[in-house]
Amino acid sequence: MKTNSSASNLHPGTGNIPLRERELRHGHRGCVVWLTGLSASGKSTIACKLERELFRRGCQPFILDGDSMRKGLCRDLDFSEPARHENIRRVGEVARLFADAGFICISAFISPHRADRDFVRNLMPPGAFIEVFVNAPLSVCEQRDPKGLYAKARKNEIENFTGVSAPYEPPLKPEIELRTDKLTVAQAVEKILQRLEKKQGIVSKSGTRRGKSPGVIKCADW
Ligand code: ADX
Repeated sequence: MKTNSSASNLHPGTGNIPLRERELRHGHRGCVVWLTGLSASGKSTIACKLERELFRRGCQPFILDGDSMRKGLCRDLDFSEPARHENIRRVGEVARLFADAGFICISAFISPHRADRDFVRNLMPPGAFIEVFVNAPLSVCEQRDPKGLYAKARKNEIENFTGVSAPYEPPLKPEIELRTDKLTVAQAVEKILQRLEKKQGIVSKSGTRRGKSPGVIKCADW
């Protein structure tokens, strides 16, 4: 299989519903909430709770995560460094499509490389990529070890395990940092929701929206 490097013979896709119209229907802006952190740092737990709360408020959320994408779209990829770059490139493109459709795409991937996360950020319009550093010390993640993977990695039964035998590059300026060894899951989710209320136009817990007219999205940086 050859990579299409020039793309010069490709034409814009069909469809003429502007993002703005989709966002008005959904009642919020399309965006990507990109959760990054070590295995067992709490990404999936936070993603699920956040998705449920957004859904309850009438938003259109959808989760992409490592364990599911690696069973399908990315099943040909291992955990070597080049394969991880390709993993994030693919899932980043998928996340972008969801945001283009006006969804709140919640992505939960270790995504250990800063350059890969920045690649996804640069696919998105300004303000639509919200990097969330799900930060728990390695020792805490290792103690949690819900899948028993750290134990296997220490016994050299898994190669390239992030934090043990492969690097994790923490974000330098994430939009949000969650110390999951100090916050409850509810507190962590609340921090993300507050940001989405302020910047993405989602309704608050009580069903009110920032701005004057109900039904019209008003948010800080639109
Ligand atoms: S990423 O590094 O390419 O972003 P991704 O988030 O898709 O990783 O997948 C991480 C999940 O794969 C982990 O939650 C864990 O269950 C599993 N996994 C299997 N092998 C490894 C490994 N070597 N390093 C990290 N996670 C692994």
